[in-house]
Amino acid sequence: MTAIVVAIDGPAGSGKSSVSKQAARELGYAYLDTGAAYRALAWMLLDRGLDAGNPLVVVESLGEFDFAVGTDPDQYFVKVGPDDVTVAIREPWVTSEVRLVARLPEVREHLMALFRRIVVEAARPGIVVEGRDITTVVAPDATARILLTASEEVRMGRRSKELVDQSAAVVGEQLRSRDRADSRVVDFMNAADGVTTVDSTELDFGQTVSAVVDVVQRAVLRAS
Ligand code: C5P
Repeated sequence: MTAIVVAIDGPAGSGKSSVSKQAARELGYAYLDTGAAYRALAWMLLDRGLDAGNPLVVVESLGEFDFAVGTDPDQYFVKVGPDDVTVAIREPWVTSEVRLVARLPEVREHLMALFRRIVVEAARPGIVVEGRDITTVVAPDATARILLTASEEVRMGRRSKELVDQSAAVVGEQLRSRDRADSRVVDFMNAADGVTTVDSTELDFGQTVSAVVDVVQRAVLRAS
C-alpha cells in the first residue's frame, strides 16, 4: 500500500504546527514539521558564529547539517548533531534569520530531498507534512492538500498570546515582515489548483483540527 501523505501549508500564526500535530494524532499518522529544518539550519550557523547572510557560507554548511526530527506527534524533538534544539529554534534571534537560509535554492533542494526521505521512512500508515511549499513543491501529489489560513488580525492575536513578553505591535510587524519575505520565495497565501482551503478565522482549535481531519478522510476515501 502506498503511504498516505497529507500536505499542509500556511502563513505564520495560522496554527499550522499545532493543528497539523493534533490532526496527525487523531488520524494515527506521523508528523513532519519542515519549518523546523530551516530553523535548525539557521540555528547551526548562528551557533557557530557563521554569517547566515552569506550564501556561500550557508551552502557550504549543508554538508555538515546533521538534522534529526521526531516524527511521532507525541514525541516531537529537533536535533542538530548531539544538540537538542527543540526550544532554541523558536527563539526570536533564530526566527528573524531563517529567511536568509530559506531563500536559497540550494538549501531548498537539499532540504526537499531530506523531507522526501523522511516521508518514505516515517509514513506508517500516513504522515502529515506541514510548511510553506508542501502542497506545491515537496509533495504536489499528496493524498490530501490543504492551505490553512486565518485573517491577519487573528493570526497576529494568536502569535501575541504565545509571545507574551513582546508587544502586539512588534509581534504584528515581525509576522508581516516574515510572510512578505517568505512569499517572495513560495506562494502560500493562495491555494494552488486542487488544494482545499481551511480558513480558521472563525474556528477554535478543536474545530480547525476537525475540519482538517474531515478533508483528509474524504481524500483518503476518494483515493481508495
Ligand atoms: O513554519 P515555521 O514558522 O516554523 O517556518 C520557519 C521558516 O522556515 C519560515 O518563515 C520560512 O522562512 C521557512 N520555511 C520554508 N519552507 C517550508 C517551511 C518553512 O521556507 N516548507
